[in-house]
Amino acid sequence: MSYQGFRIGSVLVDPPIVLAPLAGTSCAPFRLLCRRAGAGLVVSEMISATGLRHGNRKTAALLENWPQEQPVAMQFFGSDPDELALAAQTGARVGAAIIDFNLGCPVPKVRKSGAGAALLVQPDKAVAAVRAMADATSVPVTAKLRAGYNEVDAAFFELAERLVEAGAQALTLHARTAAQGFRGEADWRLIRRLKEMVPVPVIGNGDVRSGASAVRMLEETGCDGVMIGRAALGNPFIFAEAVAALGGRARRAPTAKEKAAAALCHAQMLCLLMGEERAVREMRAQVAWYVRGWHSAAAIRREAQEARTLGELAEILLTGAGAAELTPGGPGAEGS
Ligand SMILES: Cc1cc2nc3c(=O)[nH]c(=O)nc-3n(C[C@H](O)[C@H](O)[C@H](O)COP(=O)(O)O)c2cc1C
Repeated sequence: MSYQGFRIGSVLVDPPIVLAPLAGTSCAPFRLLCRRAGAGLVVSEMISATGLRHGNRKTAALLENWPQEQPVAMQFFGSDPDELALAAQTGARVGAAIIDFNLGCPVPKVRKSGAGAALLVQPDKAVAAVRAMADATSVPVTAKLRAGYNEVDAAFFELAERLVEAGAQALTLHARTAAQGFRGEADWRLIRRLKEMVPVPVIGNGDVRSGASAVRMLEETGCDGVMIGRAALGNPFIFAEAVAALGGRARRAPTAKEKAAAALCHAQMLCLLMGEERAVREMRAQVAWYVRGWHSAAAIRREAQEARTLGELAEILLTGAGAAELTPGGPGAEGS
C-alpha cells in the first residue's frame, strides 16, 4: 500500500508525517532538521496567547520561523477568545501556514490557567476559542486534543464534532486522556473512531516510535497523517525512516557520527537565533537526546554541561561519536 499526502485547507502535507509540538525542542532549527529529514509538516512548541498579548519577549521569540521549513504550523494555548484571535492573526502574519490550538496540555501551570487540557471539560469555551481563531485568520486552524480529561466518553467525541463545526480544518488526537500523562499505551482505536466521525483530516498521535509503527498507525486507524513526538527528540532521522517505511523500504539506523553532525547543525542554527553562549546552554538538554544509548552518553552529558563554545561542544560530540562507533553494537545501540 502506498501513502499519499493530504491537505489541511489548501496546505499540502506530503508525506503525511508530522513533527509534534515539543515545548523546549521544536524551535525553527530543529523543525528545519526534521523537514529536511522528510517530515511533511512541522509544528512549533506551544506559544502562550496571553504572553504574546503582554508583549513578553521570550514568548515572541517562539514565533521565529524560516521559509525553508514551510509548511509550519504554529501552536497557541490560552483560553481567552480575543487573545487567541490576536495570536492567530499574529502567527499568520509572521509566516505560519497553519494555526494550531492546544487542547491537551496537562501541565498544571497551563491547566490551572484554564488552558490546554482544562478546556476538554469546558467544551463551550473550547468551541468559542476555535471559532474566534478561525474567524480571525484566513489560514487553516486546527486543534490538537487528548482523548478526554479523566476518561474517554461520548463528551469527547461531541467536542471534536463541535470544534469542526466551529472551523477546525483538521484534528490531531494524542490517544490518551490528560489524566494518563504518558502512562499506559495510546489507544489507537480512538483515532479510528474519530476518523470515522469527522469530515476533516485526522492526524493520529501517540507511541509512534519507528517507521514501521507509523505505517501501522495509518493502516490500523485510517488516519490521514501520523504525528511523531518523543521518538524525534535528538533523532530527526526518524522522519527519513518513516518516509522509507511508507514506500515499503527499510532505512538503516543513523550512525553516531551522523547523529553528532545533526546535533551540531542544530547547535549552529541555534547560534544564529540566540548567539553562541545561549545556544550552547540550550543545547545541553538536546545533546542528551542525541547521544541517548551511546556507551559514553553519561560522560558526554556531563561534559556538555561545562561546554561554553560551539567548538567545545563539537569536540565533545565528535569524540563521543568516534568512541560510540568503536563500541561493539555501539552506534545503533540507542534503539532509535
Ligand atoms: C518534551 C515534550 C514537550 C511537549 N510539548 C508539547 C506542546 O508544546 N504542545 C503539545 O500540544 N504537545 C506537546 N507535547 C506532546 C506531544 O506533542 C505528543 O502529543 C506526545 O508526546 C505523544 O506523542 P509521542 O508518543 O509520539 O511522543 C510534548 C511532549 C513532550 C515529550
